[in-house]
Amino acid sequence: MAVDEISAVQNERRWALAMGGVAAVMLAAIVWAGLGLHMNPPSNIETVDPNTLHVAGEFAENNLGTHVDSAGKITTRIVTTQFAFVPECVVVPQDMQVTFRLASPDVIHGLIVVGTNVNTMVVPGFVSQVHTVFDKPGDLLMPCHEFCGLGHGQMVAHVRVVPIADFRPDGDGRVTCDN
Ligand code: CUA
Repeated sequence: MAVDEISAVQNERRWALAMGGVAAVMLAAIVWAGLGLHMNPPSNIETVDPNTLHVAGEFAENNLGTHVDSAGKITTRIVTTQFAFVPECVVVPQDMQVTFRLASPDVIHGLIVVGTNVNTMVVPGFVSQVHTVFDKPGDLLMPCHEFCGLGHGQMVAHVRVVPIADFRPDGDGRVTCDN
């Protein structure tokens, strides 16, 4: 082999090593975020008809918001729609496992609860589900983070995290920002 060919092979090896190193760093970052920071993609594959979800069933208007069932399981249901969250304020207790269930009747929305690991897209036709525990009380902003149309910038809700002593379900197991 000529001298030029040898240096070209060496160059190729160096680039291959460098690119392998970049891929290894990215893989390590994903593993660290998933296992160390508990940041995982939503994986709940559950379908719902976007045309009728707000008319009857789980996502009918009178079943939205936070509900405690007879076994004590806390579920917060929200419909994301152009350009609002329904309801626009939800109450959840501190230091308890809470399950968010979300559905969209129109386009793809997304949400993040600021300062927490709650972060998901809401795709029409699917129920998005997130389990989390809020470790301190406060009023947390929950903006839409998926561009969904002209009103996207105004689409924001609140998650009110209250100490367990202030979390008082009514006779139907419901807790709203009004009571
Ligand atoms: Cu909904 Cu952006």
